Amino acid sequence: MAKPVALITGASHGIGKQMALTFASHGYDLILNYSSSAAAAAEVAASCEALGASVLSVQCNVADYAAVGAMVNQSLSTFGTIDVLINNAGITKDNLILRMKESDFDDVIAVNLKGSFNTIQHVSKTMLRNKKGRIINLSSVIGLLGNAGQANYAASKGGLIALTKSVAREFASRGITVNAIAPGFIQTKMTDALSDDVKASVLTQIPLARFGQPEDIAYTALFLASDQASYITGQVIAVDGGMAM
Ligand SMILES: NC(=O)c1ccc[n+]([C@@H]2O[C@H](COP(=O)([O-])OP(=O)(O)OC[C@H]3O[C@@H](n4cnc5c(N)ncnc54)[C@H](O)[C@@H]3O)[C@@H](O)[C@H]2O)c1
Repeated sequence: MAKPVALITGASHGIGKQMALTFASHGYDLILNYSSSAAAAAEVAASCEALGASVLSVQCNVADYAAVGAMVNQSLSTFGTIDVLINNAGITKDNLILRMKESDFDDVIAVNLKGSFNTIQHVSKTMLRNKKGRIINLSSVIGLLGNAGQANYAASKGGLIALTKSVAREFASRGITVNAIAPGFIQTKMTDALSDDVKASVLTQIPLARFGQPEDIAYTALFLASDQASYITGQVIAVDGGMAM
């Protein structure tokens, strides 16, 4: 029997990389999207192949609508279908709102929110034809709570939750579920960039009193992609040590 196929955006580092490895070790073939780091993407692809997955790596900026269309066409030529779409690619360009450059607002919305529109619109045509599919969007605890200095990021991640719920309603009758994961503070390159003071302050807001690991998010995504999660749609699953309860 053919393996299920998952497309993961931003798969060369951090949470995306861990999702690639976790899905590969649980019987998925993979389309691994990356934006610029070809060497890191090749390493992730080789590790996934060693775990038994067939892998297509595609360089593409998810904010570029036409490029995403071309990536999806290439994926369909290779695998014939896409069963799971994980919108993981994301960026931050933090500043207080009065100091935030217009381009920093636009760039974060373009990648984090519009990028997910781009992939959903191109991939869902196949899922609608198949009458099955799973779409998983990486939101954030910041999209639930807001955060000083991250108005652009919070708006993109809050928008992603609204996008998730709307598309879940549109696709529910077609056997496609659409859910969001809202990670809290997960140890990756994105959070390594924060100062020790900020990290210490975040830690005081986490009831479980520790930072999360990429595996915490990868296994949540693996569950949402599974047959066992077929009655869950339009939900935001917080994986945040209790930050947003
Ligand atoms: N780390 C956390 O604590 C945390 C918390 C909440 C939400 N998230 C979200 O989880 C996702 C993964 O975060 P991470 O911590 O692994 O970050 P990361 O910076 O380690 O990885 C992000 C990935 O996205 C890729 N990317 C960036 N712009 C892209 C573009 N235009 N096109 C394609 N790929 C692009 C990067 O190359 C990178 O591989 C993001 O959406 C992030 O907002 C992370």
